[in-house]
Amino acid sequence: MIIKAENISYTYSEGGPFEKEALYNVSITINQGDFVGIIGHTGSGKSTLVQHFNGLLKPTSGKITVCGIDTLDKKANLKKVRTKVGLVFQYPEHQLFEETVRQDIAFAPKNMGLSERETQERVMWAASLVGLTDEILEKSPFEISGGQKRRAAIAGVLAMQPDFLVLDEPTAGLDPSGREEILFQIKKLHKETGITVAIVSHGMEDIAKTVEYLYVMNKGEIAMQGTPLEVYAQYELLEKMGLDAPQITKLMKHVYGVNICTVEDAKEYILGVAHRA
Ligand SMILES: Nc1ncnc2c1ncn2[C@@H]1O[C@H](COP(=O)(O)OP(=O)(O)OP(=O)(O)O)[C@@H](O)[C@H]1O
Ligand SMILES: [Mg+2]
Repeated sequence: MIIKAENISYTYSEGGPFEKEALYNVSITINQGDFVGIIGHTGSGKSTLVQHFNGLLKPTSGKITVCGIDTLDKKANLKKVRTKVGLVFQYPEHQLFEETVRQDIAFAPKNMGLSERETQERVMWAASLVGLTDEILEKSPFEISGGQKRRAAIAGVLAMQPDFLVLDEPTAGLDPSGREEILFQIKKLHKETGITVAIVSHGMEDIAKTVEYLYVMNKGEIAMQGTPLEVYAQYELLEKMGLDAPQITKLMKHVYGVNICTVEDAKEYILGVAHRA
């Protein structure tokens, strides 16, 4: 078990004039090897929740253990938690600052005290996992494409060899091909290494095709959970929370009365119907 959160709540600026309760009684368990998605309307608490996964935020009430470490414990080794859980922030490319992509990816392993040789091995390993070539490694982070920047930032976190990779809106602001590319790499990474992954996302169809299990947040609470199919089948409920199910789900329900959430599955179903007719 990597994450076990029991009834955690979180209030920003508690007791102050700008007090804001952002998480309310959230319980969530993430096991080794899981591939989960967290979706929800703007301000529903997704980023607040995932920042608890690496101990960056600690619950105002309730309890969370990360890889068996209770982050509220005064003796908790939070440094260890942060190397076990790699958190990639929204728009992580703003944190690329070195002269070359290679140096940027090397930053975390170097800070962990690894030798130059070990660091370079980690860099090559992480870069190959996200599909960055040697040529790109020598470029400045400012002269590569948006999708490549995003991948460089993800590689920088992977270079710590975390057990759990948490990505806050990894496809935000990318064009469709950039989005597809990132999700493809993350899926491949999960498949090849078995790493536990949690993705925060707004992109409905993207996430339906990518994760195995979904949590839907609404006003600081987990309002729904299940496989993407189970969640999207209840699209009326999603719409009440300001979310939209994939168009294909609605279309297939209207036309055929079936629950389907990806274009590929819809294609298979329609071809099957045509074949039987
Ligand atoms: N540093 C902060 N201080 C005070 N309130 C905050 C802070 N960060 C977030 N909030 C508030 O907490 C609530 C949850 O915010 P959070 O960023 O977790 O939502 P989110 O689901 O990640 O939203 P988005 O989809 O826009 O990224 C929001 O009402 C937000 O305004
Ligand atoms: Mg957010």
